[in-house]
Amino acid sequence: MKLRSQLFARCPPTVRIVEVGPRDGLQNEPAPVPAAAKIALVEALAGAGHTHIEVASFVSPRRVPQMEDAEEVCRGIRRRPGVIYTALIPNEEGLERALKVAVDSIAVFTAASETFNQKNIGCSTAESLERIRRVLARARAESLRVRAYVSMAFVCPYEGRIEPVRVIEVVERLRDMGIERISLGDTLGAAYPDQVSRLLEALDARWGLGGFALHLHDTYRRALANALAGLLHGIEEFDASTGGLGGCPFAPGARGNVATEEIVELFEGMGIATGIDLEKQREASRKIREALGRTR
Ligand code: HMG
Ligand code: MG
Repeated sequence: MKLRSQLFARCPPTVRIVEVGPRDGLQNEPAPVPAAAKIALVEALAGAGHTHIEVASFVSPRRVPQMEDAEEVCRGIRRRPGVIYTALIPNEEGLERALKVAVDSIAVFTAASETFNQKNIGCSTAESLERIRRVLARARAESLRVRAYVSMAFVCPYEGRIEPVRVIEVVERLRDMGIERISLGDTLGAAYPDQVSRLLEALDARWGLGGFALHLHDTYRRALANALAGLLHGIEEFDASTGGLGGCPFAPGARGNVATEEIVELFEGMGIATGIDLEKQREASRKIREALGRTR
């Protein structure tokens, strides 16, 4: 066994990568991406060893046209045993759509910023939590796994810096509903590692960090530094997007998530197992970037 320096004492030996490329990565693409290319991406990711893939969102097609074909994508994917196919769900209408195409798991979402919730989902934080409660009741009856995002957990384009206390308030409400898997979103990609550390310390003191994941956008190329901060606190789950694609249409300036191939390379290089085949991951990234006409 490799001996770790004291600084890395809390680093886990393995981490789980939640691949959000097919949803977060593609939702903001300006030109339509054919369903066949989305399906091919999901299948390539499963082939690279991913076991948690967020494949689509069932949101309003008027708000996010790129996700209009969520049903077609979910129906088209050849399901692999051992892979959990997740859909992002804003409300009961979205859940009903997702149930018809047999997703395994759902991700619900709200934010620590009141203004962002208004811009993103057209309601207050309190109302978004009520929507989640209603979705949850139905999801439980269908035995679906549920994960929640808290967006704008660090910096909001409308409200500025977000203090940990505001994140804790939302996390507390979600945990009171029984949601234990919570992904903390640096939606804007503007957090710094010390800020990540401060929030994780506050959450750790309250609940321990077992149920928390980091969802780091890479707008200012700090996502890997922020992931490292998470790792030092013992975080075991990280969201990532193939090719670093993506961004939220309602968070001006936000760029893609941390690139899956970059975070996998970092972790594996540190002796932390991800279960992802880096060569196949790079190939999946190359193919989708080519399908999108990306040259760099
Ligand atoms: P709404 O339009 O604001 O209001 O929807 P509504 O509830 O009154 O609905 C109006 C119309 O939308 C109705 O149709 C509904 O049927 C329809 P009409 O009668 O006018 O023809 N509608 C739907 N259609 C299909 N599927 C649905 C659905 N719901 C309503 N599920 C809603 C509210 C939340 C749906 C809307 O505001 C919306 O879709 N917003 C987009 C949210 C979104 O996708 N944002 C990006 C993802 S979040 C993100 O990227 C952050 C994350 O990555 C983490 C991070 O980075 O921090 C997760
Ligand atoms: Mg995101």
